[in-house]
Amino acid sequence: MFSSINSFGLVGISCYPVAVEVDVSRAFPCFEIVGLPDAAVKESKDRVRSALKNCGIDFPDSRVVVNLAPANTKKTGAYYDLPILIGILCSIGLLEPVPEQVGMIGELSLDGKVRPVKGVLSMVSQARSQGFSSVIVPMENAAEGAVFPDIQVYAAQSVPEVLAHLRGEQALPLARQLPSRPESEPDYLDFSDVRGQFLAKRAVEVAAAGGHNILLLGSPGSGKSMIAKRLPSILPGLSFEEAIETTKIHSIAGLLPQGVSLLSKRPFRAPHHTVSAAGLSGGGPNPRPGEISLAHNGVLFLDELPEFARTAMEVLRQPMENDLVTISRAGGSVTYPSRFMVVAAMNPCPCGYYGHPERECTCTPTAVNRYLGRVSGPLLDRLDIQVEVAPVQYDDLTSTRQEERSAAIRERVAAARAIQQRRLAPYGMACNARIPPAALAELCPLTPAANRILELAFQRMNLSGRAYDRILKIARTIADLAGSQQIDAPHITEAIQYRSLDRKYWHK
Ligand SMILES: Nc1ncnc2c1ncn2[C@@H]1O[C@H](COP(=O)(O)OP(=O)(O)OP(=O)(O)O)[C@@H](O)[C@H]1O
Ligand SMILES: [Mg+2]
Repeated sequence: MFSSINSFGLVGISCYPVAVEVDVSRAFPCFEIVGLPDAAVKESKDRVRSALKNCGIDFPDSRVVVNLAPANTKKTGAYYDLPILIGILCSIGLLEPVPEQVGMIGELSLDGKVRPVKGVLSMVSQARSQGFSSVIVPMENAAEGAVFPDIQVYAAQSVPEVLAHLRGEQALPLARQLPSRPESEPDYLDFSDVRGQFLAKRAVEVAAAGGHNILLLGSPGSGKSMIAKRLPSILPGLSFEEAIETTKIHSIAGLLPQGVSLLSKRPFRAPHHTVSAAGLSGGGPNPRPGEISLAHNGVLFLDELPEFARTAMEVLRQPMENDLVTISRAGGSVTYPSRFMVVAAMNPCPCGYYGHPERECTCTPTAVNRYLGRVSGPLLDRLDIQVEVAPVQYDDLTSTRQEERSAAIRERVAAARAIQQRRLAPYGMACNARIPPAALAELCPLTPAANRILELAFQRMNLSGRAYDRILKIARTIADLAGSQQIDAPHITEAIQYRSLDRKYWHK
């Protein structure tokens, strides 16, 4: 007899419907899985056989053929164990046909337990869009399914429980009725720990307010890493849509803490400088999101920027422009969203003291140039705000003055973001860093005084077209922080200052 069970397959962070078709016929006993399965799917056979046996059910002494439709897409992972087992039981008449509006996913252990899989949030959201009434998911992933109130997500721990549920004897627990735990309270580091460094803190505030990338350059121990690590404490919270997308990515990477249904903190990813290009972009035989996708809607912190491999820096270019990363592999390409804010930190030279007001730099000019030259030009160009972090002053370090807390800075950032949201919503954007070039003139009106300053700077500093665009966007954010409709002289002056570092160090 033939039966079909609804399940799902993953591409990037989205899903497509997969029908697990099972045909059991009286012929020479065998067990085949077709429909482009990978090794993990093929191994389903052994898991399903053992799980059935250990649940006290004999494997049919017949020809069992499983087809994963559509047959032209490669199926990966162990998602289909549960639907295959259920399909077999329907085909041999031990279960009534499963209604069309029900989907299921789950890996099985040999003793018939339902084990967790990756990407459940994407699958439940696919089930919703297909109009399913319910989905059965592994208990350990159930929290992810509890996000949507309009679909019944049942949490399964073992095959016998699923059978009792499908036979109408004992319903499985609903995901949203299970105790869930919120993501652990943000343990943000606070900006009040950073003494002095007013300029650097201000630059980070502007970056956070407009979603601009930022480079912090300075001598060792000036507090660059310290400042960068405190950035999440002043960023606005995630919107529901952002939280869903970010959680999907972390779920697919298997990094969602158990019991957490939705991430609420913006991700802060700080890959070590030895990270490979593939580690950043993602990929591999079973595609997995890389650091830049895990940083989606959050921050990618590149500490000691010149130490990163050239290939790793190059990988960042496409996602920094397009907000997504495409990974090509043998079986086609996968796209993951990756809209993140880059925070990079570096020393100006190998010894770290080039440009230091008091200490002498011991590097030769060639060594300095070689060191700075390791940062790829196009990447440097994309780091909108560039600031020099001066050595911390003794007076600042020993002062008893209370430094401003992150909460106060976050309020100003949130107010500036609210202005941007109102202005940019018709354009489908959330922050100034994303303003397309065509909309710049309309959205960034300059006062005559500001215009004169920019014109002068453009001629004197020999700015590129891209630098001009970026200065306008940064100035827009500075004006928003000041609650000003128009971009005025002080706003544009501050913005120009954030683009002058590369001239001092790189284009001497
Ligand atoms: N402005 C500051 N206020 C308080 N403490 C500071 C400040 N700057 C530096 N420190 C102290 O110095 C330590 C080192 O700072 P941090 O690691 O941020 O330096 P860095 O600029 O990243 O140096 P490197 O170039 O070596 O990476 C901090 O952990 C902190 O204890
Ligand atoms: Mg550091």
